Amino acid sequence: MTALTGHQEIDRQHERLDSIIAHLDLVCANRQAGAPDCLNCPEASFSACNNRLADLIADLLGFMVEHFSYEEKLMRFLPDSEVCRRHISAHQQAHGEISRLLSELTANLDRDNPRQSALHLQHIARAWMGGHARIFDSVLASSLEGAYAVELDYDQELIRLLSNT
Ligand SMILES: [Fe+2]
Ligand SMILES: [Fe+2]
Repeated sequence: MTALTGHQEIDRQHERLDSIIAHLDLVCANRQAGAPDCLNCPEASFSACNNRLADLIADLLGFMVEHFSYEEKLMRFLPDSEVCRRHISAHQQAHGEISRLLSELTANLDRDNPRQSALHLQHIARAWMGGHARIFDSVLASSLEGAYAVELDYDQELIRLLSNT
């Protein structure tokens, strides 16, 4: 499971991404029989597994786009500072890189071995989510807390000034 960032909505969305990624494990109906890959499966199973995999990939890529867009909207609330500008640029770049990597990966999946393809994708997506949330999303979440605090202080200062006039 991806570590919590402390931002409720980001964490809720990460949970949904984690759940889609976890479902990649269920692509193969014969996995409980210990099937390591699809080499001994009948031809008919391939298309069922490939269809299931394609659905999960569509869910994963589709929701990832929504999630990145949500985080990038939140970035607009960050203070206008050099540190935040650098964060925004690197964070957006990281979103772009994983989107490209996953699109490339999914376009070149081994259709003869959907079980292994699903596990490979799961491994990459899970590792990326963990690292990205720790390096970027938790920083975004904590910087937003600061931004709200600044706004709150500003509001309170404004109220104080107004009540003195
Ligand atoms: Fe992010
Ligand atoms: Fe995220």
